[in-house]
Amino acid sequence: MGKILEKINEQMNFELESGYIYLSMAAYLKDRGFDGMSGFMHKQAHEEYEHAMKMYGFLTSVGKLPVFESINKPAANYKSELDVFQQALQHEKTVTSRIDDLVDLAREENDKRAEIFLQWYVTEQVEEEDVFTDLVLKLERADGKFSALYLLDGIIAGK
Ligand SMILES: [Fe+2]
Ligand SMILES: [Fe+2]
Repeated sequence: MGKILEKINEQMNFELESGYIYLSMAAYLKDRGFDGMSGFMHKQAHEEYEHAMKMYGFLTSVGKLPVFESINKPAANYKSELDVFQQALQHEKTVTSRIDDLVDLAREENDKRAEIFLQWYVTEQVEEEDVFTDLVLKLERADGKFSALYLLDGIIAGK
């Protein structure tokens, strides 16, 4: 058997780690008084959990036992709201390259079910990077001014 299922299991754990990071970011934003941004990060954390569960379902469907690893401790503090979203965008870019590598491996091993399964993640990552890129741009323009940040907090709450 190829390595692809092992690697999808690894990614399942990484998706959970992503959720853990976003929860920590949500807590920081809540602590800073930005409920809208915090709620948005909570939603992201839930999405990451769903991404992991989709992989869990796939692994069980193909007879591979999902194995859960320990999750790294996320940062508890950030420099600013902008810093949070910049780090989140960077994280999503890391996820994208990991998914790309998984697709390459599925092709290399000629595992069509894995390749087709992973396509959903390729599409999802386009959306994830787009959303975070947009928010980073808006936060850059806010330039740390509280009036602009509170306005943005309301906008992000609706996302
Ligand atoms: Fe994800
Ligand atoms: Fe994500």
